Amino acid sequence: MTTNITVLVSGRGSNLQSVIDNIESGYIQNAAIKLVISDVEDAYALERARNHGIPAVFIDPSAFENKLAFEQEILKKLGEYDTGLILLAGYMRIVGREIIGAYPNRIINIHPALLPSFKGLHGQQQAFDYGVKVSGCTVHFVDEGMDTGPIILQKCVPVLKDDTADTLAARILEQEHRVLPEAVKLFVEGKLKVEGRIVVHT
Ligand code: GRF
Repeated sequence: MTTNITVLVSGRGSNLQSVIDNIESGYIQNAAIKLVISDVEDAYALERARNHGIPAVFIDPSAFENKLAFEQEILKKLGEYDTGLILLAGYMRIVGREIIGAYPNRIINIHPALLPSFKGLHGQQQAFDYGVKVSGCTVHFVDEGMDTGPIILQKCVPVLKDDTADTLAARILEQEHRVLPEAVKLFVEGKLKVEGRIVVHT
């Protein structure tokens, strides 16, 4: 059975690209990205999706009365495309209760720091400024908190002597592009079981 994936994005879409590429190469099997939704009109991620024949839509948050109405529109789309897995790949909004309630343990986010440290925006910069010697990225299920959901996979990278926040971010991004497809593969193969806040790999 194929898992239909919808990806939510806001920007350049390099993580989206890594999942597209890993589906096309056959690393991830029995999955298809059916739809990409952006809350930013000129997000390059939309173009990346269209380049691969994937429907890509901009949903304008400012066109709705409130967050709930905006998310109801997203929910409608998720339903239309029979979504089995939602990926947040550089989606810069907090997903609300409505969507989370409708897709329990079926929403996955990638964060550019080793959670639970450095939640929120600019995780790489936060870690760099703090002076950590190791950082990395985290793939996790999404719950109602900000970057607090059960952790699926993490990858570490060293912070090197001559690093800037940008060189560190680039090193982390390389790992993001590996770990997100790996998590998607595990999910699609039914190998992730959530027990409380622990994700067991079966
Ligand atoms: C990535 O660093 C991701 O971890 C964070 O936002 C960035 C998105 O990059 N959530 P891209 O749009 O996937 O290139």
